[in-house]
Amino acid sequence: MTTTQLLAPILAFLHCETPDAWINQAKKPENLPVILRDHLACELKAGQTAMFLIRKYALDKASSQVLVEWFQPYEDFLYRKQGDLSSLAQKKSLAKALIPKNNSPYSQNLIDKMVLLIKEELHHFYQVLEIMVAREIPFDGITAGRYAKGMLKHVTSYEPNALIDKLIIGAYIEARSCERFAKIAPHLDEELTKFYISLLRSEARHYQDYLVLAQQVAGESIDISERITYFGVVEAELISSSDEDFKFHSGAPVT
Ligand SMILES: [Fe+2]
Ligand SMILES: [Fe+2]
Repeated sequence: MTTTQLLAPILAFLHCETPDAWINQAKKPENLPVILRDHLACELKAGQTAMFLIRKYALDKASSQVLVEWFQPYEDFLYRKQGDLSSLAQKKSLAKALIPKNNSPYSQNLIDKMVLLIKEELHHFYQVLEIMVAREIPFDGITAGRYAKGMLKHVTSYEPNALIDKLIIGAYIEARSCERFAKIAPHLDEELTKFYISLLRSEARHYQDYLVLAQQVAGESIDISERITYFGVVEAELISSSDEDFKFHSGAPVT
C-alpha cells in the first residue's frame, strides 16, 4: 500500500488537516530536539494508555503485574533518568502470557490487540531514543501539552461509555500522529524522513484497532458514530486553534 492509500481513510476520519503554521514550526532545525523529546514521551504514553486500558478492563491481578514490570525500565528512563539504550534492549519482550479476568466481557480481543500495540509503541520508543543518542540530543524532560487532556476531559463518567470514549480518543491520537508523520516527513533529513514514513503503517493500524474495539465494547447494534463525530470536532479544535506550547500534537503555533 502506498502512503497516499494509507492516508486516505485517515484524512477522511480527521476533521481537519495539520495547519501549515505547525509544519513551518516543526521543520525548523532548532525545533528538532523538542519534536524528538516529545515524540519519545508520546510513544511511551501510547503504550501506557493501552496498558492502563487492559489493566483496568481486562486483566487479572498477576497479569497486571507482569505488564507493570514490562514498562518499568521505560518509565525509569523517562521519569527517573535511569538506564540507557542497552538496558532497555534487554527488556524488550513480554515474558509471560497475559490472562483475562473471568468476569471481563471484552477481554481476550482487547488484550491481544493492545499487547501488539504496546510492543510496537515500545519499539518506536527505542527507535526514537536511538536517533536521539546518535544525534547527542539529551532527554532532559518534557511537559505534556494540552492535546490528550483536552479530549479526555470529555470522557463520559459511567461504563461502558467511558471505555468507548477512551477508545475513540485513542483512535484520534493514533490517526493524528499518522497524519503528522506524513506531513513533517518530507521536510526532515533522509534518516528521519525514512523513519517517520516507516511509522505510518503501524499508526494507521492502531487507529483502526481502537475503532473496532470501541464498536465491540458498545455492541454491534449500538451506533457510536455520533460519539466519534463529537470527539472529531473536539480534536480538530485542539489542532487548529492557536497554541503557545509547541509540541508534536499542539495546535497552530503563536508566532
Ligand atoms: Fe507509535
Ligand atoms: Fe500507535
